[in-house]
Amino acid sequence: MPKLGIGVIGSGFIAQAVHIPSIIRTERASVVAISDLKVKLASSVAARWQIPKAYADYQDMLRSDEVQAVFVLTDKYSHYQVVMDALVAGKHVFVEKPLAMRYSDALKIAQEANRRNLVTFVGYMKRYDAGMNLAKEKILSFGKPSFARATYFGGNWTFGEPQIKPLTSDETVPQSQKSYPEIPPQAIRLYDDLLEQIHVINSVRYLFGEPKVLSSNLKAGFLCSSLDVGHLISLEFGSVNLGG
Ligand SMILES: NC(=O)c1ccc[n+]([C@@H]2O[C@H](COP(=O)([O-])OP(=O)(O)OC[C@H]3O[C@@H](n4cnc5c(N)ncnc54)[C@H](O)[C@@H]3O)[C@@H](O)[C@H]2O)c1
Repeated sequence: MPKLGIGVIGSGFIAQAVHIPSIIRTERASVVAISDLKVKLASSVAARWQIPKAYADYQDMLRSDEVQAVFVLTDKYSHYQVVMDALVAGKHVFVEKPLAMRYSDALKIAQEANRRNLVTFVGYMKRYDAGMNLAKEKILSFGKPSFARATYFGGNWTFGEPQIKPLTSDETVPQSQKSYPEIPPQAIRLYDDLLEQIHVINSVRYLFGEPKVLSSNLKAGFLCSSLDVGHLISLEFGSVNLGG
């Protein structure tokens, strides 16, 4: 079976520590192109992993027929536009979390992907973790849970590549648009905080189904915490959907 041709957009830390080594180890896909606004970085990453083509502009990469799917590994502010451009170009998409900064933008992405019959997949990797799936099996065998406490241990999420020091570059490039006038700054700070905890929340949703209510002790824009590191977040399940 021919390998799926992957184009990587964004050549920074997560591309080098996780995704490129992971794709290279599979037999079903290969990285055929890479892009970054920092073109020298893209070129040196391409040289390290023998990726045939490096682009400064991902739109040029999207025009290549060799690229059937893209990995969007840029900063969160750029995800919506890059993902939409990839879908319009007819490419399947893996995008790092978060899918978008606004729920309405996430819905637009879902609609566009459905309309074009393209796969779009967000980097909530815990849902594919063998340990997590074993836990789900056990939980299902226990019956209806009434309380869950979740603590997240990162584990080796760099896919066994901690020894690889990511390549960097001092090129200066335009920053992604960070302004969302309708979103208050404290909400953006909260959002950034939640990005650290998101795998815990996502795992609980995966194990117990979708919560009816998400409540938190919101104080001055931050989730109230009883610890120096970490947040107290409570997910209230109106009815637990164990089959979910
Ligand atoms: N799933 C996880 O556990 C996990 C862990 C770490 C990071 N991430 C996510 O991965 C993403 C990237 O994080 P990182 O640490 O690799 O960041 P990084 O800053 O090291 O790399 C991002 C790269 O994207 C490039 N870039 C930005 N806009 C671009 C554009 N329009 N076209 C081409 N290249 C562009 C930048 O120049 C930079 O080199 C973030 O969304 C982050 O939330 C997920």
